[in-house]
Amino acid sequence: MKGLIPEEVIDEVRASSDIVNVVSDYVRLRKQGTNYVGLCPFHNEKTPSFMVSGDKQIFRCFGCGEGGNVFSFIMKFDKLSFPEAVRLLANRAGITIPEEDDPAKNARMKEVNEAFEINELVKDFYQYILINHQVAGEARSYLKKRGLTGETIDKFQIGFAPPSWDSLLKFLNKKGFAPEKLEKLGLVLARSKGKPGFYDRFRNRVMFPIWDIRGKVVGFGGRVLDDSVPKYLNSPETVLFNKSHLLYGINKAAESIRRNDQVIIVEGYLDVITCHQSGISNVVASLGTAFTREQGKLLLRYSQEVVMAYDADAAGIHATMRGWQLLDDLGCRVRIVSIPDGKDPDEFIRVHGAEEFTRVIRQNAQSLSEFNTDRAMEKYDMATLEGKFKIASEVIPSIKNISNEIEKNEAIMKLAQRLHLSPEAVRAEVEKTPRGSRNSWSNRDKITASRNNNDNRVPGGVASKEEDARSRAEESLLVLMLSDSNIFLKVKEEIGVHFSSRQEYLNITNLLNEILENELDYQPAVLFDRLQDESTTEILKRLLLVEIPEENRDQVIDDCIRTVKEDEIRKKREELLRRMEEADKARDQELRKQLLLEYTRLI
Ligand code: UTP
Ligand code: MN
Repeated sequence: MKGLIPEEVIDEVRASSDIVNVVSDYVRLRKQGTNYVGLCPFHNEKTPSFMVSGDKQIFRCFGCGEGGNVFSFIMKFDKLSFPEAVRLLANRAGITIPEEDDPAKNARMKEVNEAFEINELVKDFYQYILINHQVAGEARSYLKKRGLTGETIDKFQIGFAPPSWDSLLKFLNKKGFAPEKLEKLGLVLARSKGKPGFYDRFRNRVMFPIWDIRGKVVGFGGRVLDDSVPKYLNSPETVLFNKSHLLYGINKAAESIRRNDQVIIVEGYLDVITCHQSGISNVVASLGTAFTREQGKLLLRYSQEVVMAYDADAAGIHATMRGWQLLDDLGCRVRIVSIPDGKDPDEFIRVHGAEEFTRVIRQNAQSLSEFNTDRAMEKYDMATLEGKFKIASEVIPSIKNISNEIEKNEAIMKLAQRLHLSPEAVRAEVEKTPRGSRNSWSNRDKITASRNNNDNRVPGGVASKEEDARSRAEESLLVLMLSDSNIFLKVKEEIGVHFSSRQEYLNITNLLNEILENELDYQPAVLFDRLQDESTTEILKRLLLVEIPEENRDQVIDDCIRTVKEDEIRKKREELLRRMEEADKARDQELRKQLLLEYTRLI
């Protein structure tokens, strides 16, 4: 979002905020050639793959794929919106920004602030009841029975929603909040029958506040005290509560995740709480739903080492697999732990203690191929050769794509050992299997992968050889155009700016064109602020990661242009052939002759 800061001011701030200077405030940079390198602040790494270019005024990381200009850097690092980042840098550069006055935005800000205020009150209310009220006696003994100490209850701000229909409603009413507002926050519900009115959503439940990364309450999960259903009732989606972006406990775990360079993902609120209580604090839970990309990205800010400690039941395994793929795609190193005896971490720690849990995590954490081996061995009969090969064929795709040869070799040895086959036999099977299963460790460097495999294909379709060549050419052209306005002009003259059918590419070339026509600064850095659409921004980041050697540039450009032209001609010819066939069917000799003429002209 741009906010209402005038374009000239944004340009002035950008011009006064040299990216090397700014990033140096946050990251230790070392000069390397014309660029600067350092350890990427957006993912964990031991060797620097984070690069800042003073010439281009951009940063990019070859490890995690982050990239952008000085504003994107501040937005990401300080978790700010665009206008906030501009303001911060303006401040740094001593530039005054006229105060904005956007009624719609102000209204929204007010709504959000008020929502936080209300949630805070609600949390205090539930907490007060749990500690002080006689109605919460049963809840207090329930939590005690679950082994939570007073300190933990306090730290996790656990509360109790009384059984009555309107105690929260009354409480907030007295504070002057209209029920309609509370309904929007998922705290009360509108009556559907009888006289109009509202009633409390959470009744007779132990209340767990759910926080954002800063520790502000964004929603609640409420647990029953017995076996009734639903076991948990959660806040619905609200202005503050977006399940797919949240991880329970992240505010309390972040520091420890960074320190341990590892995160343990569990399933439930209680699992997180018990882990923390027993001193294991690098633990978070996804909120009872399938793991999402946003949650993965959130984790990547702190570590790429992920251990999934999910229940070993079918649902748990399913959740694990889905989460695994997603995290692997994002570049995490994922391992899986099935907790013994079908227990969840909370139960396990209660019976065996934290040390034992840590030991299990350390010793039982499996790679995907090991995990798959276990699953497959449960399914097939190890006693027969056929069974063994069935097991092997289920596991091999996850071995096939391991990019690290040592790891791959180890996986082959392990599988051979477990199946009582010779490593050579397994290796031969691995060689025979085609690549391409998504269940692999090899996607760790997704950026390189997508660069090489080039995913510019028509969505859903299988790309032909020509389409492949075409999209590679388009990509190279775009990369070169971004680096030099003269190349842009040359391409524009030869094949125009609409040479791609890909919307994201068009967005970029249109924008470059606009920049040139308005005689603005020709810098990829500028693009980031002007692109509205997320998928184009992603593509732009990726394009800026592609290196095309300096030598033979003119040759490369000419080749790419030719590829595009030839592909256009090929398409036109195909179209003409198709129309000729139609003309034949319609016995339209005249049309056919005309089309043939056109066709021969194309050759
Ligand atoms: P579990 O059923 O494993 O619960 O659900 P739990 O956290 O271990 O709780 P206890 O130990 O039985 O008290 C795991 C997570 O799934 C979500 C919650 O986030 C829960 O923590 N869930 C589960 C719901 O949202 N609603 C439900 O009805 C059940
Ligand atoms: Mn549990």
